[in-house]
Amino acid sequence: MQEKKKSDVVEKIVSLAKRRGFVFQSSEIYGGLNGCWDYGPLGVELLKNIKEEWWKFMTYRENVEGLDASILMHPKVWEASGHVENFSDPMIDCKQCKSRFRLDILVETLASKKKKKYLQEFITKVDSVEYKEKVNGLGDDENEINVIFNLILDDDSCNKILLTEINCPQCGNKGTFTEARLFNLMFKTFIGPLEDTSSVVYLRPETAQGIFVNFLNVQGSSRQKLPFGIAQIGKAFRNEINTKNFLFRTREFEQMEMQFFVRPSDAQKWFDYWKSERLEWFKSLGMTPNKLRYHDHEKLAHYADAATDIEYEFPFGWGEIEGIHNRTDFDLSRHEQFSGKSLKYFDEEAKEKFIPFIIETSAGASRSFMAFFIDAYYEEEVNGEVRVVLRFNPKIAPIKAAILPLVNKDGMPKVARKIETELRKNFKVFYDDKGAIGRRYRRQDEAGTPYCFTIDTQTFEDNTITVRERDSMLQERILIDELKNYLIRKIIG
Ligand code: GAP
Repeated sequence: MQEKKKSDVVEKIVSLAKRRGFVFQSSEIYGGLNGCWDYGPLGVELLKNIKEEWWKFMTYRENVEGLDASILMHPKVWEASGHVENFSDPMIDCKQCKSRFRLDILVETLASKKKKKYLQEFITKVDSVEYKEKVNGLGDDENEINVIFNLILDDDSCNKILLTEINCPQCGNKGTFTEARLFNLMFKTFIGPLEDTSSVVYLRPETAQGIFVNFLNVQGSSRQKLPFGIAQIGKAFRNEINTKNFLFRTREFEQMEMQFFVRPSDAQKWFDYWKSERLEWFKSLGMTPNKLRYHDHEKLAHYADAATDIEYEFPFGWGEIEGIHNRTDFDLSRHEQFSGKSLKYFDEEAKEKFIPFIIETSAGASRSFMAFFIDAYYEEEVNGEVRVVLRFNPKIAPIKAAILPLVNKDGMPKVARKIETELRKNFKVFYDDKGAIGRRYRRQDEAGTPYCFTIDTQTFEDNTITVRERDSMLQERILIDELKNYLIRKIIG
């Protein structure tokens, strides 16, 4: 089998996604809308299957309940959560070519040699003896250069001068950057007919807050006791400055989040438990184990006490697909403070009231979609031809089986249609009688369909059909009456 070529896999995936109806650019006929994507017939099945597998894995347990909170919430929710104050990125614009950059990302992409050069030019324009000494004493150590570079960027009185030394990566001009400004990532809109400050609401930037504010509603109505979790899948919106890498960073996306409420003393134990469970979930759906890793955070978000990312090795590098956080009692305490309503849990055994700690598992459905898609993509040489195959785990494959009469005559289509009608009651299947059988197999390989059922002359002799398995391309004969059980066994396990 040929190795996947790393560099151009994303381009190939984007093209395959459009051609086969997985993902289209949003509003394409109007030139598209940056950072927004539409899921086509195969894509919507794949996405739905990923979400369904997550839902089963997370909520088919006795200590996790489901929720579907509304996207629009009381604006105070976002004050309490810290999003109004903190959910922003520093941004700079190039006045020449009008490109916009996230400052931290632009700085990350600069080579340390360049940074050193910029620092050396910078000290010729400032009086600070401290900075002059620091920069003059610099060697070639990358870490040391980064520390000083970031120190100056954080210094409001000097960072403008350093920015004038940096060339715009887009047009190459120097001294054309605006000052860094903080840019809040929440989308604002208005509720009701008046467009004034009293009617501002936000499109939620995460699903988590809907869970926090419903903590006591769910706990009381389901009579759950600590530890227990609340899970939710839903859309989230962020006005990202730089959308990039297809579905990786978009402005509208879906999250699959679960908040697990625990006694403070048990927080570490549950953090470790969910960290392991969530990595196993990706593996259990066939994601290549050595393309997955943990990345522990040293710099923590304002709400977290401990944080780990589950990362996937995308063709453009390692990237977060899920975050696991110990959010402490931050969220419930803040909502208690801002709403004036008690969000304390009453522990009947200990006869005490307290605010639970929260362990959060927060996965992107759309980002996981992209990781599963890339992971499944293979190009192989078969009989001198390249076969493109998406090796999705059958549980998430958009189409479970294709039903193919060998020829479009001799009564084969009739038998095939009968099988199709029967299987459609339980499975997403596909009927195809157009073209040579080899070409039809290839089309299904490209769609990630794990099984092809071919009706041929022998079918009329012994009521069997050929099952052709996508990955091995091996064929076996099975009875028509066995097809439903065959699929149940293969898909449900
Ligand atoms: N409630 C915590 C939270 O929202 P996050 O790390 O900001 O944490 C969690 O987001 C997950 O949501 C990420 O791991 C990623 O999979 C997904 N995600 C975040 N921003 C995204 C974006 N702009 N586009 C696509 N997915 C995104």
